[in-house]
Amino acid sequence: MPNVRISTGDAEHLLEDARQAAKRAYAPYSQFPVGAAVLTADGSIVTGCNVENASYPMTVCAERVAVATAVAAGHRHIRAVAVTAPKVESVTPCGGCRQVLNEFRSADGSLWVILEGTSGPEIVSIDELLPRSFGAAPLESVSG
Ligand code: THU
Repeated sequence: MPNVRISTGDAEHLLEDARQAAKRAYAPYSQFPVGAAVLTADGSIVTGCNVENASYPMTVCAERVAVATAVAAGHRHIRAVAVTAPKVESVTPCGGCRQVLNEFRSADGSLWVILEGTSGPEIVSIDELLPRSFGAAPLESVSG
């Protein structure tokens, strides 16, 4: 694990963008707005919010909206993601979003996750959230 962390200034900037994104959440069923902001390899910031649906499983989490939007814009590596859920003390990405984030780690393997909490932001690594993760390497090893 590279000993690189996101600077406090960058983390706060990302969190502020995530807070703004949470205001755009479409969460009429859960009343649980979430905002996410990803920082890409070239320094761009892309945001997302949760988008729910009357057919509940069609709901998309804020993190996945942010990642998919970034990828659609041409980004392939995420340095950090900030996640906030303004109605609760703290939030953490669901298992599915951890796997999706894992797909787009930085080239050095790092990806920092900034979690908004009442006592201030907590920064954890993707490896802490998703130990022994499954990624592209084994697939590439069989397909050549
Ligand atoms: N949700 C997210 O968007 N991100 C998370 O990290 C946790 C859960 C959303 C999905 C759903 O719209 C609502 O929060 C309640 O689960």
